[in-house]
Amino acid sequence: MKNALEAIAAKYKDKPGSAIPVLQEMQKAEGYISRESLRYISERTGIPAAELWGIATFYSMFHLETRGRHVIRVCKGTACHVSGADNLASAIRTHLGLTGEAITTDDELFTLEEVACLGCCSLAPVMMIDDTVYGKLTPHKAISIIDKYITAENT
Ligand code: FES
Repeated sequence: MKNALEAIAAKYKDKPGSAIPVLQEMQKAEGYISRESLRYISERTGIPAAELWGIATFYSMFHLETRGRHVIRVCKGTACHVSGADNLASAIRTHLGLTGEAITTDDELFTLEEVACLGCCSLAPVMMIDDTVYGKLTPHKAISIIDKYITAENT
């Protein structure tokens, strides 16, 4: 991964105003922006670490923690909320063994996020896994869908 960071650093060295593209490329290369990589890039490009960090923490498109191979988004919008989204999210958390503030499984297979309306309220409650929408869910249905991803990973 160092090679990817070296290439990014070389591309943006001494180029003012390039913090956002630098961060985008870092995230593309590593899946998220680690503090270690941020320091490395800062030292080699001359972009202050505080500037990179400030932007990375301000924009929700940047992820500061490791991400799972699959991202599960459980909708917590109004229609989904009244249709049982809370139960859905907590059943998924339990099934994935997520505790406390953790949103990514230890094996880095899944990241679970709770998001606002996904735009398909008639299917409430809804979750997305990567780019696929699943609607009219019960906790049981959601878990069996997730289990299919686990099975696919293990075959
Ligand atoms: S509220 Fe969940 S899709 Fe709109």
